[in-house]
Amino acid sequence: MRVFVILPAAGIGTRMTAATGTSTPKQFLSLAGVPVLVHSLRAFLSIPRVEAIYVAVQKREIERVRQQLDEFQLGTRVHVVAGGDVRQQSVWNALEQLASQARCGEDDIVLVHDAARPLIDPATIERTIDAIAEHGAAIVGMPAVDTIKQVDRTSHGAIVTATIPRERIVLAQTPQGARCGLLQRAFSDAVADGFTGTDEASLLERAGIEVAVVAGSPHNFKITQPGDLELAEFYLRSSK
Ligand code: CTP
Ligand code: MG
Repeated sequence: MRVFVILPAAGIGTRMTAATGTSTPKQFLSLAGVPVLVHSLRAFLSIPRVEAIYVAVQKREIERVRQQLDEFQLGTRVHVVAGGDVRQQSVWNALEQLASQARCGEDDIVLVHDAARPLIDPATIERTIDAIAEHGAAIVGMPAVDTIKQVDRTSHGAIVTATIPRERIVLAQTPQGARCGLLQRAFSDAVADGFTGTDEASLLERAGIEVAVVAGSPHNFKITQPGDLELAEFYLRSSK
């Protein structure tokens, strides 16, 4: 059983750039002196059983990212490929490259992790790999701590229509993954049906594949808006 990783890093970070006026996508911004993407890569490179990592970036960034990987001496396990216009397309492109270059077998494991979640800890990655080995597919999820409301959106905001039992809710994080054969099937089904989801689990679920949940952490949040880099730096400092 081999283990592969896909890091989608081809987004343009509109929620961050619109608010800060910078044009650099958030995965390339500096966190404690190192690009966010490099933090994510180091976490997966620290797992010896990870054989290769495929990073999907915008086509025009490929060369620059390759140089950056050299600069940070990230080694030969990292491959840079072209992403697409939406996250699912970026992951699909990387999965196709992985399948043709590394020839992942039906039972090999593929993890997908948002490059914009730099504080993923190696122990959670290990637990996700183990859960996929046991169940076939798994995601990292955080139990909800707030009471969850269902709402109808209105022009002024929203009106509560129901309260959803909190015990039945987890907030999906990454990594998410599955056996290579299952993930390929879920992706090709989605492509065939014209379905676009925002994570891998939504594709696996609709393909009828059972997805297990591994406990996540608030530290594994996704850098999304201004203030998030400062919060990540705070978490980094306090974990030392
Ligand atoms: N991503 C990607 N390809 C895309 C869009 C997103 O690889 N076409 C990646 C992002 O780079 C990020 C992860 O998917 O690592 C999660 O996406 P998100 O947080 O939504 O990032 P962006 O789409 O870049 O940000 P925004 O939605 O604010 O524009
Ligand atoms: Mg997005």
